[in-house]
Parts: sequence; C-alpha cells; structure tokens
Amino acid sequence: MVEAKRMRIIEILKRLPFGKEVSVKGWVRTKRESKQGFSFIELNDGSCFSNLQIIADGKIDDYENIIKKISTGCSLEAIGKLVESPGGKQAIEMQAFELKVVGTVDPATYPLQKKRHSFEFLRKIAHLRPKTNTFGAITRVRNFLSWSVHKFFQERGFYYLNTPIITCSDCEGAGEMFQVTTLDLEDLPRKNGAVDYSEDFFGKKANLTVSGQLEAEAYALALGNVYTFGPTFRAENSNTRRHLAEFWMVEPEMAFCDLKGNVELSEEFLKTLCGGALESCGEDMAFFEKFINSDVVKRLEKIAIDRFEVIEYGEAIKLLEPRASQFEYPVGWGHDLQAEHERYLTEKVFEKPVVIINYPKEIKPFYMKVNSDDKTVAAMDILFPQLGEVIGGSQREDNYEVLKSRIKETGLNEKDYWWYLELRKYGTAPHSGFGLGFERFVQFVTGMANIRDVIPFPRTPGNAEF
Ligand code: 4AD
Ligand code: MG
Repeated sequence: MVEAKRMRIIEILKRLPFGKEVSVKGWVRTKRESKQGFSFIELNDGSCFSNLQIIADGKIDDYENIIKKISTGCSLEAIGKLVESPGGKQAIEMQAFELKVVGTVDPATYPLQKKRHSFEFLRKIAHLRPKTNTFGAITRVRNFLSWSVHKFFQERGFYYLNTPIITCSDCEGAGEMFQVTTLDLEDLPRKNGAVDYSEDFFGKKANLTVSGQLEAEAYALALGNVYTFGPTFRAENSNTRRHLAEFWMVEPEMAFCDLKGNVELSEEFLKTLCGGALESCGEDMAFFEKFINSDVVKRLEKIAIDRFEVIEYGEAIKLLEPRASQFEYPVGWGHDLQAEHERYLTEKVFEKPVVIINYPKEIKPFYMKVNSDDKTVAAMDILFPQLGEVIGGSQREDNYEVLKSRIKETGLNEKDYWWYLELRKYGTAPHSGFGLGFERFVQFVTGMANIRDVIPFPRTPGNAEF
C-alpha cells in the first residue's frame, strides 16, 4: 500500500485539507455502485457523526474483487486524495487510490442490515449497537458530559474522590443491596442457626455500594469540597424506563455549606452541563432533535435560562391535593412523590425544573439534617420535566446525638455506623451534598426514552448478558 498518514474524519471535516493525500480507517455504512464503473462508499470512523464519502473506480488495483468484498459494516482502509465534493451534499470527499478491506461482514447474517431498528431489538445485540448512528451519538454525548462533570468541579476547587465499591454500610438504609461474598452458597457456615459471616471474606456481611456519600462526607470534613463519580448498585426490582441495577452517580459533598448553598450549586451545575452540551455536541444534538425527540434542544436551552422553582414539600402537596383523584398513587402529607406527581409539577404547574425541599423525615434517609420543626429534614430533590427526579440531596445531620437517634429510629444498626457517627464527634461542621443520577441526566440531554439505551451495557432485573 502507498504510505499516507491517517486522519480522523472529524479532523478532515473541520480542516477541509483539499488536495491532501491521507489514509482513513473505519466501517462502511453504505456502498453504492454506479453503472459508469464508479462506487460510492460512506465510511464512518466513530470520531464524529458524519461519514466521509469515498469515490472509487477502475483505476484501483483489483477494483472488481475489492468492491465485491465491501458491504455494510465491514472495516476498511482507504488511501486517496481529499477533494471538493461536486454534489454539494458534503464539502469534501475522497478520491481513492487504494482500498483495503480489513474485516469482512457476511450480509446474510449481519443483524444491522436495515437502516432503522427498534431499541428493543438493539438491546438484544448490545455488543453491536455501538455501530449504529444513535449509539455513536449517545456515546459521544455521554463522554462529553462525563468530562464536563470533572471540568465543572475541578474549576471550582473540588477534589475528585474514589470511594469504595464494596462496603459494609447501607447509605440509603433501604436494604436494596447486592451482597458480596466468597462463602460457598451450597454449604454455608452457621452459628446459632444464622449464617456465620465471620467466616466470609471481610469477616462480616458486605455489599456493593448504593452511594459513595458516607465516605465522601469523611473527606469533605477534612478537605472542604470533594466529589465522587462512580458506579453504584441497587437491587430494586424496578422494571421502569428510568431504573438500572447498576448506574453512575456524581456526588459532590461540601463542608460549611447549608441546604441553600447546595441548591445553588446543583442548579449552576445542571445549567452549565446542559449549556455545554448544546455548544459542543451540535451535530449529535441535531440528530437527536430530528430522529429521537423534537423538543430536546429547546428544553436544554430552557434549562440553561429559566431559574429553577424552589418549593417546600408542603407546598407541593397543596398543589397536588386538588388533583388527587386523577393520580394513581395517594397524595398527602407523609406520602412520597411518585413519577406522576413529579411530572404534573414540572410539566403542568411550573413548566420547568422544580426543586422540592424539606420533606417529612419519615420518608427520607437517616443522614438528612432534622429541621427545627422536628417534622421535616433539609432534603432537596430536583425534578425535571419528562423525567422526574434527577438529583437527590440534603444538608447532613451534623449533631452526634440527633444522628444517633435517627439511626435507631430508622431501624439501622448503630454499630455499622460507628465511624460515620465519629465524624460528628471530631470537628463536626454543617455540610451538604447531592447525587446526580448520571444516566437519567444523559437521558434528558439526548431525549432517549429508556435509561437502558444511555449506558453501554445495562444491568436490569434478569439482564446481564453482555
Ligand atoms: O436520591 P438518591 O437515592 O440519593 C442518594 O443516593 C444520595 N446518597 C445522594 C447524595 O446526597 N450524595 O439517588 C440519587 C440519584 C437520584 O436522584 C436518581 O437520579 C438516581 O440517583 N437514581 C437512579 N438512577 C438510575 N437507576 C436507579 N435505580 C436509580 N436510583 C437512583
Ligand atoms: Mg432520591
């Protein structure tokens, strides 16, 4: 083969280096043969949404044979000259001197022959779906948002913290944990009738974490501001379009920060990321707007502009009560808000994101700060239109005695939280934080209806094939 430097398609389209001889490598999207002995090949290399059109003709060595081998999905290297495209459909195209099929595809069995496939079908071939336009675009936007999370916090002096995946405490106290064990399940060691976990790997019962918050608090109470961004696991048996058993969470934690400061940071955070996606992911966003959800760009623009509505839980209940009969789930003080209530508030009442603060303590975890009314806790949930809860957070209980009694009240074992309690004994301070469900946010930004389609390999009840 002729020697030529490889260029990624994104660079070719950005720089338009007319006349330059380069190599491109990628996967064939389509091939068209004209009667005049030409072929048009659309090549995508993943670097951006657009393909590069390659024109090949009989001047190429072994032309007939090579063209026969090329079909949708095969991997290809093309060397040629970049020229202005006469059609006007694209600015630049390649006149190939040389083509090399790197990996063939058997069209008889290749599952991605059609132009469009249902998302249900694509979930069954999760290893091949990255080759579609939609999953390419989702992957690039998800990457941009991940990078933006780090950029946002790094620019504000937060330290990135890696909290453990395996833990012995249940942060949310909801008992929805996957157990981690090396015990032989067919032959469990027993003591007084119960399983003897002192013989397990960690000498006690251990689980996959549901949140890095408790450990993040330990570091916030020494370094000031920290954040985590890692996988979390929940064994809730929810088969909905917004629940995963394994999902990624972004959890900032700030010392000397109250609920108000927490709400302010979260709003700035969401606005910055939404605005950034519009600015930096234009080509992919245009695809989502055209093919996935025609509102997606408009609603991101709106997030970036509108101030979020902040209301008390009590006010939210008052707004919902007159409509109580039209909801499936009960409405009233002490009932948690369900997706239908969240949607009513964000889509019908306010038509923008709503931050609900100060929930009854009975429906929130033990670690939230008890307010002076002794009835509510300094919680905040951020609800987005069409999506519902995207962020959950709170000011944390910083008083040793109150926290201890909340642990007891909520039926948890004080012994499991001894170190967490000690943080309130040695230099306690008011502190706050929140958790962003990263996939829910990616859903909002891309407009994808189902959360299983915004994570590469989704884990849900009954599904961990790939
Ligand atoms: O509201 P959650 O349970 O809050 C916490 O875990 C706190 N420890 C966070 C903190 O204060 N540091 O979860 C936070 C967010 C939710 O708002 C939701 O967006 C997402 O995580 N989430 C899920 N996303 C996908 N699948 C699930 N099963 C989820 N459960 C929660
Ligand atoms: Mg929550």
